[in-house]
Amino acid sequence: MATRLFEGKTHASYYQKYRFSPPQEVQDLIFNYMGERLSKPYGFAVDVGCGTGQSTRILVPYFEKILGTDISPAQIEEASKANDIPNVTYSVSPAEEVPVDECSVDLVTACAAAHWFSIEKFYKEVDRILKPRGCLAIFTYIPDMEVHYKDRSEQLTKVFKEVSRQLRILLGALYGSFSLLLNIL
Ligand SMILES: C[S@@+](CC[C@H](N)C(=O)[O-])C[C@H]1O[C@@H](n2cnc3c(N)ncnc32)[C@H](O)[C@@H]1O
Repeated sequence: MATRLFEGKTHASYYQKYRFSPPQEVQDLIFNYMGERLSKPYGFAVDVGCGTGQSTRILVPYFEKILGTDISPAQIEEASKANDIPNVTYSVSPAEEVPVDECSVDLVTACAAAHWFSIEKFYKEVDRILKPRGCLAIFTYIPDMEVHYKDRSEQLTKVFKEVSRQLRILLGALYGSFSLLLNIL
């Protein structure tokens, strides 16, 4: 990774305090799809680029064993400090080298993180560690929220919502072109 934005201890502690978990709609998409591919109980999930654990904790009701990995020691320190669930562990390691055996993982997740990875190497690693019929979920989300700061809350919220709207249009257009291309091919 060329840029390392998640290394500071203060940054990591703010992450732990303020970052939300992925929305229920996204969780439902992932676990409904899992249900179509594998039978319960699910064994082992790895959340890569887990940060302080918000995207890792959503896996707890579903898996017997969960590992969160991140390249940033500060993020992993915060995730470990907040962890009181015995079957969840955290490890400092790059997405491109996950410290688990081959064919051992039922689900690999990467929430708001895969854009930082060396993606070709990551896919190779996922290929190595996933069990047959295992799943990879790469996802992100744009929260619908208000921004509060002194007497500028209204203006900041307006700016935030406009940027989110433009991003959705851009992503929609990209997705549309991609689907069209696939249809043509
Ligand atoms: C935007 S945060 C998302 C954290 C968490 N998944 C969440 O949704 O709250 C991106 C995380 O990816 C991690 N990261 C970036 N490049 C990585 C890499 N090559 N291997 C593992 N983690 C990486 C960063 O350290 C950071 O914690």
